Amino acid sequence: MRAVDVIMNKRAGKELTREELAFFIGGYAAGEIPDYQVAAWAMAVFFQGMSPGETAALTEVMLKSGSVMDLSGIPGPFVDKHSTGGVGDKTSLILAPLAASLGIRDPMMSGRALGHTGGTLDKLDSIPGYRTSLGREEFREILKKGGFAMTGQTRDIVPADRLLYALRDVTGTVESVPLITASILSKKAAEGAEALVLDVKFGSGAFMKDPQAGEALARSLADTGAAMGKGIIALLTDMNEPLGRMVGNFLEVEESLDCLEGRGPADLMEVTLELAARMAVLGGKAGNSAEGRRLCEEALTGGKPRELFLQNIQNQGGDLNKFLELRGKYRSPFSAGIRASRGGYISRIDAWQVGRAGVLLGIGRNRTEDAVCPTAGVCLHKKGGDPVKEGDLIMTVWASGEAGLQGALPQLAGAVSYSETPPPERKLILKEISA
Ligand code: URA
Repeated sequence: MRAVDVIMNKRAGKELTREELAFFIGGYAAGEIPDYQVAAWAMAVFFQGMSPGETAALTEVMLKSGSVMDLSGIPGPFVDKHSTGGVGDKTSLILAPLAASLGIRDPMMSGRALGHTGGTLDKLDSIPGYRTSLGREEFREILKKGGFAMTGQTRDIVPADRLLYALRDVTGTVESVPLITASILSKKAAEGAEALVLDVKFGSGAFMKDPQAGEALARSLADTGAAMGKGIIALLTDMNEPLGRMVGNFLEVEESLDCLEGRGPADLMEVTLELAARMAVLGGKAGNSAEGRRLCEEALTGGKPRELFLQNIQNQGGDLNKFLELRGKYRSPFSAGIRASRGGYISRIDAWQVGRAGVLLGIGRNRTEDAVCPTAGVCLHKKGGDPVKEGDLIMTVWASGEAGLQGALPQLAGAVSYSETPPPERKLILKEISA
């Protein structure tokens, strides 16, 4: 078999066989097939798509490119949540300790910033000392002790996704239903989750731009996940505006702690609680999502999730005192404000433009080898629906350097649209989809 033939078969729209996929993905993970051939293949998949059977086979060969976490001896239930990617989307950081406080174990294997979207691992890495590359034994220990553990793909666990994820990020091949499905579900199967809540985003700041495309992705994830024996609930959620007020690595960790302290923005809390409620259902802690939500709200009021969040920082090597000392202060010195160019209402702050500007600020990457800046980001003082007067401060912006700041400012100003009258209320959660 030759890699070029697999690429040409896909380019011609043929359905790839399991053997072809195993050869190609296995060869990539082993370092025998170079990045440039895989980039060409990913672009062919982007344009030609894959059948459900092909997507399932791709997921399986990606999973088999490495070994899986062994969670035996640790009491479950093991339930995780994964988002298809958004801007300001930090629900994982709030959900994991929240679910753990209900007695659900969350073995969370996440990703880094992808395209214009943020990544859980990059956010966590902004905490001084925090380690997101855990060995298997350490992952088990932390999961057992703290109820959740957060790590990334490693050299031996889903290595194919570690490579392919980074390659897609810089080759314009992220927005593909089969590639996203295989990427997410191979990680989720490898981490040992028995059930999974999926936050499938649609809108300008998501990879799927409209609800129909979001639903197609949700269906692919739910059906492929169910075929792998996982309990799956997907929520289709709006990502036309950044979630919460903070966009940036350390900024988002800070905002997650605010949420755990009962001071979270309404949109972020709404999506987080609805996702957590489904985790409670899948973990057998609640009979339905309304009961799950009530349990989550009570847990937040009781303060246990906050305690578990801070404990996790220490469990994963973070310097808790330093983190708390830096809270509210750890900001890049390259900073500016964006003010309202007119009065009226903010009709929307466009998530796509904020996400694109975020890459210029240093939150995300242009090249695989780029480092991200922990202290860059944006604070949205106003959001869609807020009344404004000309000159009001709408955003504070921090960048990793002066050039990035100057590049991002016009884009951020352009992300704001105004109206004379209040805009219609946004429906944050559109639909629930299960297999
Ligand atoms: N999240 C992932 O893990 N993979 C993708 O491809 C997109 C979002």
